[in-house]
Amino acid sequence: MPKIGPHLLEIEGLDREQIDFILDTASEFVKVNNRKVKKVPTLRGKTIINMFLEDSTRTRSSFEIAAKRLSADSINISSKGSSMNKGETLYDTAMTLEAMSPDIIVMRHPSPGAHHFLAKRLSNVKIVNAGDGLHAHPSQALLDALTIRSHFKRLDGLKIALVGDAFRARVARSNISLHKIYKNEITVVAPPTLAKKEFEDLGVKISYDLESGIKDADVVMSLRMKHEYLKDFFVPSLKEYARKYLLTEEVLEKYAPNSILLAPGPFVRGVEVSSSLIDGKRSFYKTQVNNGVAVRMAILFLLSVSNSNSVDMEEKLRL
Ligand code: CP
Repeated sequence: MPKIGPHLLEIEGLDREQIDFILDTASEFVKVNNRKVKKVPTLRGKTIINMFLEDSTRTRSSFEIAAKRLSADSINISSKGSSMNKGETLYDTAMTLEAMSPDIIVMRHPSPGAHHFLAKRLSNVKIVNAGDGLHAHPSQALLDALTIRSHFKRLDGLKIALVGDAFRARVARSNISLHKIYKNEITVVAPPTLAKKEFEDLGVKISYDLESGIKDADVVMSLRMKHEYLKDFFVPSLKEYARKYLLTEEVLEKYAPNSILLAPGPFVRGVEVSSSLIDGKRSFYKTQVNNGVAVRMAILFLLSVSNSNSVDMEEKLRL
């Protein structure tokens, strides 16, 4: 059994065998989540701190539900209401929390690299990256991968199109890292201002044209336009963006007829994706959210038992 941990900071550093193992473990937790009683005693006695220093709906609730379903004790901390509002630094906050002997700190932070910073300095707690600035969102890429694998029964030989604000999307960076490991063909589809050369350097195709960019894709992923950054003039207006790049049922039917739609969320209907597409048969949005709980259960579980031998792990995995 491959070892996972001690931290989960980004997709880079994981290999195919480790990712397959995380997804296989998550698939077991999908079964648990489909039971009437969705709780297992696997992490009884463990303590998990969810520290979200940036807004979140999906990731925060998903990690919290994951911890509870594993019977871990969990608490939530946000910057509002914490002593960070009184000027306490990230390091001093995390060092203080570490002194309370939690097993894992799950953190979302606006600064890229904040998790590496803590992982280097704290020796008695495991760190999980729940999103750091524009850098990485590994649990999102893993839950997207589980959704893709469950549908196509494989995770390689696929054409992946990422449509929208890839430049400001940590989800895009983590997905690109993951799909490069599986040697999938990846295209970023976006206006020139948002499809940066950085992606070409990663070996990703770039298309400024929606129709040719998604042509024959297996997976079309809709990325949110970060309208809060409009002041930076990356696009003249959201209306203009939507005129060229809005994903609709008709466009997918014509250019990527066998594709599934993924939307990591949040999404804005009518800007990146039409209402009928996100609510339609092609959309796997709810499956992604559902898989998110199982993937986060797998992450918390595998990091918690990362020092166990494989016999112990198999014993613990008897769900
Ligand atoms: N996909 C995602 O990270 O959503 P939240 O910002 O709501 O957590």
